[in-house]
Amino acid sequence: VSAPDLLVVGAGFFGLTIAERCATELGLQVLVVDRRSHIGGNAYSEVDEQTGVEVHKYGAHLFHTSNERVWEYVNRFTGFTDYRHRVFGKYQGQIYSLPMNLGLINQFFGKAHTPAQARELIAEQSAEIATEDAANLEEKAVSLIGRPLYEAFIKGYTAKQWQTDPTELSPDIITRLPVRYTYENGWFSDTHEGLPVDGYTAWLTKMADHPGIEVRLETDFRDLREDYLGSVPIVYTGPVDEYFDHSEGRLSWRTVDLEQSVEDVDDFQGTGVVNYNDQEVPWTRIIEFKHFHPERVRTHLPGKTVIVHEYSRFAEADDEPYYPINTAEDRAKLLRYREKAQAEPMVLFGGRLGTYQYLDMHMAIGSALSMFDNRIRPHFAEGAPFA
Ligand code: FAD
Ligand code: NA
Repeated sequence: VSAPDLLVVGAGFFGLTIAERCATELGLQVLVVDRRSHIGGNAYSEVDEQTGVEVHKYGAHLFHTSNERVWEYVNRFTGFTDYRHRVFGKYQGQIYSLPMNLGLINQFFGKAHTPAQARELIAEQSAEIATEDAANLEEKAVSLIGRPLYEAFIKGYTAKQWQTDPTELSPDIITRLPVRYTYENGWFSDTHEGLPVDGYTAWLTKMADHPGIEVRLETDFRDLREDYLGSVPIVYTGPVDEYFDHSEGRLSWRTVDLEQSVEDVDDFQGTGVVNYNDQEVPWTRIIEFKHFHPERVRTHLPGKTVIVHEYSRFAEADDEPYYPINTAEDRAKLLRYREKAQAEPMVLFGGRLGTYQYLDMHMAIGSALSMFDNRIRPHFAEGAPFA
């Protein structure tokens, strides 16, 4: 068997974008390995057999971007529906429309404020603390939106996300808490938004569908390392700390436990995502997947629906790493790992795990396109050093 021109570790959006560009633009033979039994990384989805509903296996994934280059690129592999994401929040027996907007403010305070009146109210309530003086997350949030909204919509949810009281959390976790003084309740404010018409897995499969790309699943890089390192250029999208055997210590992550169930009702909650803002309710959100694709109503089994309860917690060694915690200690470790990564011959580190960064899908794709332009094409087309 001849060696590939390039080895890509990880078949998520970052790895598949690199593989697709290298095969299509440069005519390379690319071997993509993933230790999971499926492609797609965390964007992977499958249709639940009983109900016909597409389930995102690693948490709800909504595509959105304002990056025209990424939008043009992704449309080569899939069409998008006109789905617009909205999120509702339950607090003390009432359902509110998020993100915090004029509708929420008026419902919460039982008023009919105009935008100017609501602005004035929140300015008064947030005057209690100056943002520069905030010593913890609670004080920071109160300084931005005032205590009443903080206590209802931020306190319990944040405590559950972090398993930590917000007075014990760093004020740096939040930079802004946007409040909209209109009734606009679209969750994203990007130019483009939608869900892949035939689902995420069809999209990801199409990206890998090229004679120059071979995907090998259930294959761990740690078992191939000896054969390839130093002889074949590698793009590595696995965890950077794991690559170096945690020599600088483990980077910390939060994970989410996803409890999936089929309910015997046609419609469980009337929308895709409901946040649970009360601290006493142990889950953070409930996802009801059929609402992401109202256009598929005929393929969904009537009288049944698939829901997922989400529970957030600190990740242990064997958990799926989802959100980087990014403490000062983590940042110090990351700097040391970055130095090691730079010195690693013929290996480029990318993606959310390889760079220890939360990346939305459009950011993972955009950053892979940049790596292709700036590092990979110059190497193969002009003989520039690979890494
Ligand atoms: P991944 O998708 O994680 O792919 C990395 C792959 O590398 C994995 O398949 C892994 O198995 C493989 N791998 C790791 N180590 C090895 C090894 N040693 N050998 C072989 N294979 C290995 N983005 C949005 O735009 N919208 C959303 O609504 C959204 N929701 C999200 C919800 C959750 C809960 C999470 C966690 C993420 C969400 N994202 C969302 C982000 C999205 O999942 C990422 O942008 C995307 O997964 C990044 O792709 P990636 O290729 O960098 O990483
Ligand atoms: Na303030």
